[in-house]
Amino acid sequence: MKKNNIKTLILKLEKNSDDENKLRQAADILKSGGTVIFPTETVYGLGANALDELAAAKIYSAKGRPSDNPLIIHISSYDQLSEVALQIDENSKKLIKAFWPGPLTIIFKKSSIVPDSITGGLGTVAVRMPSNETARNLIEMSCLPIAAPSANLSGRPSITSSDHLIEEMDGIVDAIIIDEDSQIGLESTVIDMTRSPAVILRPGKISRLQIENVLGEKVINDEHFKNQNAVPISPGMKYKHYSPKAEVFVAMGSEEEMILSITTKIKKDLYNNKKTAVAALSSRAESYEDFCLSPGCIFISLGKDENEAAHNLFRVLRKADELNLDKIYFEAIYEGDISEAIMNRLLKACGGNLSLF
Ligand code: TXA
Ligand code: MG
Repeated sequence: MKKNNIKTLILKLEKNSDDENKLRQAADILKSGGTVIFPTETVYGLGANALDELAAAKIYSAKGRPSDNPLIIHISSYDQLSEVALQIDENSKKLIKAFWPGPLTIIFKKSSIVPDSITGGLGTVAVRMPSNETARNLIEMSCLPIAAPSANLSGRPSITSSDHLIEEMDGIVDAIIIDEDSQIGLESTVIDMTRSPAVILRPGKISRLQIENVLGEKVINDEHFKNQNAVPISPGMKYKHYSPKAEVFVAMGSEEEMILSITTKIKKDLYNNKKTAVAALSSRAESYEDFCLSPGCIFISLGKDENEAAHNLFRVLRKADELNLDKIYFEAIYEGDISEAIMNRLLKACGGNLSLF
């Protein structure tokens, strides 16, 4: 439940010389143990000093996050990596060289300066160097490794734009840095390099294929990607996620099968006076024209291709609530490397409410 009891400082970046002062203010808040929301290339993050247990505890209470769900440490230099992580092996170095700064989180053995409370008691630590310059400048100015989960209330879709930040997080953090919309729109790929073979714990923009090409060897996906009953290695992946209040349904299969399962359900919804939407790539609008002309149903475009769909997905999930929908029907997306990450988020959002052919 949102408490709204903190006076949140809103720092809107205007691309002028005052931005540096605003970042300094935010860095000072981090240094004194406060919480700051900042942009990254994936989604907005809710940061605090990763080495200060009390500061990191504020993240858990602001989000209402279960304490067994560990945080990613964000860094801006390789020196910071050697402070928080141990045993950085050759394969990890190859990934760092290829993908940092960028949307790849790597799990290492943790060093003793990292408090157990931010790693959920695990002996490992998740680390990422974001490519977003504001994020890196902020980390650098604070001279601290910054622990940051996605800046949303626990269980809600991650936040990728400023309007949703203010709506959801004002009053529960010390400062919010407002910048442009997150470029990628889905959270980073998480890979556990302490296992052999390495295991992808969460799919993201950087695909398994890209990683295998750099390593020259196979990596595996966490079993729970294909078997939703398997216990995921990442504690955070076991929770229901990304859920709007509306019921989310995902149609799988061929185009014909998806259309059939969605339209059959919409007919019933319209009869029952439910407010619904179909969300799919813009090229698919035509297939739902007959239904989405009636007042109870609208078509929401996810964009023209899978990259736009990734960018827009969390915004569309939130839109379901803004429009007060009872149900939102998504078509599965199978094209492109990023579709695995899109489907991972959609399958979590629908909580098993899907059609399989
Ligand atoms: O793109 C991102 O990764 C964003 C931005 C802000 O950097 N952050 C983000 O954090 O998505 P969060 O907390 O929402 O997701 C982190 C995921 C969770 O599923 C968590 O359980 C997992 O990473 N994780 C963190 N540390 C771990 C560890 N030591 N072992 C296994 N999984 C870990
Ligand atoms: Mg999250």
